[in-house]
Amino acid sequence: MSRLRTDRPYDIVLFGATGFVGALTAEYLAEHAPEGLRWAIAARDARRLEELRERLPGGAEVGLLRADVAEPATVRALAEHARVVATTVGPYGRYGEDLVAACADTGADYLDLCGEPEFVDLTYVRHDARARETGARLVHACGFDSIPHDLGAYFTVRQLPEGVPLTVDGFVTADATFSGGTFASALDQFARPRQMFAAARDRARHEPRLMSRRASAPTGAPRFAPEVGAWALPLPTIDAQIVRRSAKALDHYGPDFRYRHYAAVDRLPVALGGVAAVAAVAAAAQVPPARRWLSDRLKPGDGPSAEKRARSWFTVRFVGEGGGRRVFTEVSGGDPGYGETAKMFAESALSLAFDDLPPTAGQVTTAQAMGDALTERLRAAGIGFRVAAIR
Ligand SMILES: NC(=O)c1ccc[n+]([C@@H]2O[C@H](COP(=O)([O-])OP(=O)(O)OC[C@H]3O[C@@H](n4cnc5c(N)ncnc54)[C@H](OP(=O)(O)O)[C@@H]3O)[C@@H](O)[C@H]2O)c1
Repeated sequence: MSRLRTDRPYDIVLFGATGFVGALTAEYLAEHAPEGLRWAIAARDARRLEELRERLPGGAEVGLLRADVAEPATVRALAEHARVVATTVGPYGRYGEDLVAACADTGADYLDLCGEPEFVDLTYVRHDARARETGARLVHACGFDSIPHDLGAYFTVRQLPEGVPLTVDGFVTADATFSGGTFASALDQFARPRQMFAAARDRARHEPRLMSRRASAPTGAPRFAPEVGAWALPLPTIDAQIVRRSAKALDHYGPDFRYRHYAAVDRLPVALGGVAAVAAVAAAAQVPPARRWLSDRLKPGDGPSAEKRARSWFTVRFVGEGGGRRVFTEVSGGDPGYGETAKMFAESALSLAFDDLPPTAGQVTTAQAMGDALTERLRAAGIGFRVAAIR
């Protein structure tokens, strides 16, 4: 256990527990809590929190904390009461900063499911330095964004020679739908392209440059990728940025590392249809009435049914090359956005709370903070990490 801080009443506080993915995470923690875990669920509505606790196996042992982002003192109290705070209260750009600030200030570890680059860049600029002083680890994107990609690239690099330039391409395939919370976060991002680029530039001004190594994540071009037998479309999600940050932080990605991130689609018309649909939503998000109309289609708190989630799956295939070796690896699992996200999120919280991890502080990635330990946890929990071929 890397940080005891036993003066705090809870090992883990889960904020947003009454939301869609929050409730799934609470259920996962209740079913998989190690003996003696001291944990609490937190949200703004005390009655719904009580109802959730009554449904949880062993719920009588679970603490309750009421907190509302509109009342900063209640958010600060979460950080003061926990060794690790895990939050699903999103969109993070709207609701998230006070909690990051409180964790950085009090030395509590923080993790979220944020896939919003603007928020992650903003918290780096404003809170990384304070978190380094207090020892808090601030870990964003601990769900399907970006764990399979970050740990998958980490796993792939481990199969390649050390000390040589490496390239890794990731190809995502999934059959799944999304929740109201995820849709709201995506719409917020589509509506703020200028702010997103400004936050990235501000981060670049503050971040130390790598002097002796290189790590890049260029946007690839759409192409047919014979190595995976599918059409590859560049995916403009946060994942490639996270992989690049892991490569910057960890020497074993070698002297010159490049990652490219794609969606893999079997048929070209499906690929073109997907691009057109995302472009249409992105364009509509620029116009407030159209954005309101879209956000009314899927409300916060809504999400796919248990039956739909049971049929959902994901696979991320990686092709890594370097030092004369080519390796094909795969990370796979069930419903990416919710069932598996809740699992990844809960296991990340448990890993920060209890695993013997490398010493890190400030804003860190999942690979940097928990790489080997979290990979082993996820494998034990049924997420596949495998080497398909080495040539
Ligand atoms: N990385 C990934 O792969 C991934 C996957 C799934 C979700 N996500 C992200 O996770 C976040 C949550 O998704 P979701 O589907 O669970 O959304 P959701 O059902 O809308 O849940 C949002 C949560 O935020 C809470 N909240 C809203 N305003 C609040 C306030 N003023 N004070 C305190 N709590 C407040 C809600 O509380 P109430 O319950 O009281 O309404 C709810 O618990 C989203 O940002 C989504 O993009 C990421």
